[in-house]
Parts: sequence; C-alpha cells; structure tokens
Amino acid sequence: MIDVKALIQQAFDAQKNCYTPYSNFNVGAALLTADGKVYQGCNIENAAYPATNCAERTAFFKAVSEGDKDFVAIALVGNKSDVEQGQGEYCAPCGVCRQVMAEFCDHKNFKIYMAKSVDDYKEFTLEELLPLGFTGKDLV
Ligand code: THU
Repeated sequence: MIDVKALIQQAFDAQKNCYTPYSNFNVGAALLTADGKVYQGCNIENAAYPATNCAERTAFFKAVSEGDKDFVAIALVGNKSDVEQGQGEYCAPCGVCRQVMAEFCDHKNFKIYMAKSVDDYKEFTLEELLPLGFTGKDLV
C-alpha cells in the first residue's frame, strides 16, 4: 500500500527548495521507488529560461543517477509563491516530464498524485496522462 499522504508531504517538503525567481511558481515532487525510497525534486529555474528543470525531472534524474530505475508513484504539488497551502490548483506534469516518466515507468501501474494538500488529491495512471506515447518500443 502506498502511503499517499506521506508522499504528498514529501512533495511539500521538496517544494521549499524551489529556485523560481522568474515564475514564482513552486513545484515539489516526491518519487517513490519499488523498494520504498523517496527522491524529492523541485523546479530549478534559469535566466536562460529553457535551461529550467522541472521538479519531476529533478526527482527522476536524481533517482536514476543514484542507480534507481524502478518506480511506483510520484506526488506533485505546485502553486504560485503567494498562495496558501491547500488553496492552489492540482499541479499537472508538463509534457516533457510525462515523456520522462514514460521512459522509466509502467504505463498502467505508475501512479501520479496531483495534490492541493495531503487530504485533497487526484490520482492518475501514466496511461491516462500520456495515451499513445512514443517509447523505446517504437524504435525496435
Ligand atoms: N514546472 C514544473 O516544475 N513541473 C511541471 O510539470 C510544470 C512546470 C515548473 C517549471 C517552471 O519553473 C515553472 O513551473 C513555471 O512553468
């Protein structure tokens, strides 16, 4: 059983480290591995805007660079810096981050939790968020 509330709390913890001087939109992610490890990620912006890294990809790249590639779920939170916790919207992963998820995660089983608070979240599978995605199978 996934402890969704604890995972969302870790996403909120990660959000505190965001570096967002340009958008002031702060995203936190918590990526859960099959063996119960959690990798936190935040968005890290850059004056050259395309060099920005999203929270989800920060978490994925941390994990993969540490040797973890077996993932079961990710929790996401995101809001402008002047928004109170629980008052924002559900934060959806961008297309590039969905594509990175598709590289490593099982489409039917990997869960994405978009949260406003630890008690208020929506659950999706990767398949729901990236139907008909392009993957390594297409290159065989
Ligand atoms: N952002 C994320 O971190 N994850 C997403 O999936 C959507 C967008 C960040 C990137 C940028 O720092 C800010 O949100 C506004 O686009």
